[in-house]
Amino acid sequence: MKNRVLVTGGAGYIGSHTVVELMQTGYEVVIVDNLSNSDISVIDGIEQIVGKRPDFVNVDCQDYVSFENVIKKYDDLCAAIHFAASKAVGESVEKPLLYYRNNITSLLNLLEIMQNHGIHNIVFSSSCTVYGQPSDENLPVTEKAPRLEALSPYGNTKHICEDIICDQSRANSSFKAILLRYFNPIGAHPSALIGELPNGVPNNLLPFVTQTAAGLRSELKVFGDDYNTPDGSCIRDYIYVVDLAKAHVAALERMLKVDSEPVEVFNLGTGKGLSVLEIVRGFEQATGVKLPYRIVGRREGDIEKVWADPTKANTVLHWKAETPTDQILLSAWRWQQHLMSKANKQ
Ligand code: UFG
Repeated sequence: MKNRVLVTGGAGYIGSHTVVELMQTGYEVVIVDNLSNSDISVIDGIEQIVGKRPDFVNVDCQDYVSFENVIKKYDDLCAAIHFAASKAVGESVEKPLLYYRNNITSLLNLLEIMQNHGIHNIVFSSSCTVYGQPSDENLPVTEKAPRLEALSPYGNTKHICEDIICDQSRANSSFKAILLRYFNPIGAHPSALIGELPNGVPNNLLPFVTQTAAGLRSELKVFGDDYNTPDGSCIRDYIYVVDLAKAHVAALERMLKVDSEPVEVFNLGTGKGLSVLEIVRGFEQATGVKLPYRIVGRREGDIEKVWADPTKANTVLHWKAETPTDQILLSAWRWQQHLMSKANKQ
């Protein structure tokens, strides 16, 4: 039986946690990653956790020939999970062509190579960004909520990639896809051997929180306390990256083992919204570390509030995000401490 999964972007934040879960479930993997936003040490971390090194090839998915040469070497691939993409919203506004080229070319190459080599199943990393700011009656957001016009080139690439996959499915009866729309992934593996590796100054909340708590940044700026939310700060659905990784295994097994629809969409969230200030207080309580913060003006383009209705994933995938928030925040802090002790030794 074919038992190997191609994981593009498998050295990245969500990709690496997913590789761990896949390997621990008994799948073989091959990671294709150009390390543009990660590091080879991630592969070491995966090996330490699992006790076995995943196959890893340093190739850019935009490089069709090299990418296909990797795939040619494997005759046991049953599916692909496609993470490889650029993901910084702000950068995508400044460098739209880079985002369109990378995110769309990588997917086109992957789909064509899959077609050439008889690989029929793909799990795609999408995002709740496709919902934009849902109207109040669409909160919590189900998969039936309309996709709104994207607010950034990054968001638009997620729209376009979802559409490309749907078109490919319409044209090929044997092709199956699951689109996973992530809410806000946070935290790190409980071993503290893999986690998020932000490039430069973090844009996302949690890496900024942990770097501030560690003294690497003087204070966290809370972007706005005048939103129409109970404490005035923005609300998101923060999902533990390990729970998110497990959902990929559940999605994969559904595609491989169940006679499911050709394309299915799932929201991956907890179903619970937390404000920025709740995260700040939650972090302080979970870790006992004081977090200096200051309220500043709103960040351009921020959505006021969004959280998932994960009922479909809970019932159809038999998956649920269950890790308590304090445990997740503590895992993020332990990872930050791991990074600091590593940096001190160098
Ligand atoms: N925030 C701060 N201070 C910071 C960083 C963030 O107050 O220093 C706030 C933001 O204003 C927002 C919340 O923390 O209210 C979360 O911000 P993130 O940047 O962590 O996450 P976003 O929800 O803005 O964006 C995330 C992903 C995007 C994705 C989007 C929607 O980073 O890739 O969710 O799916 F497009």
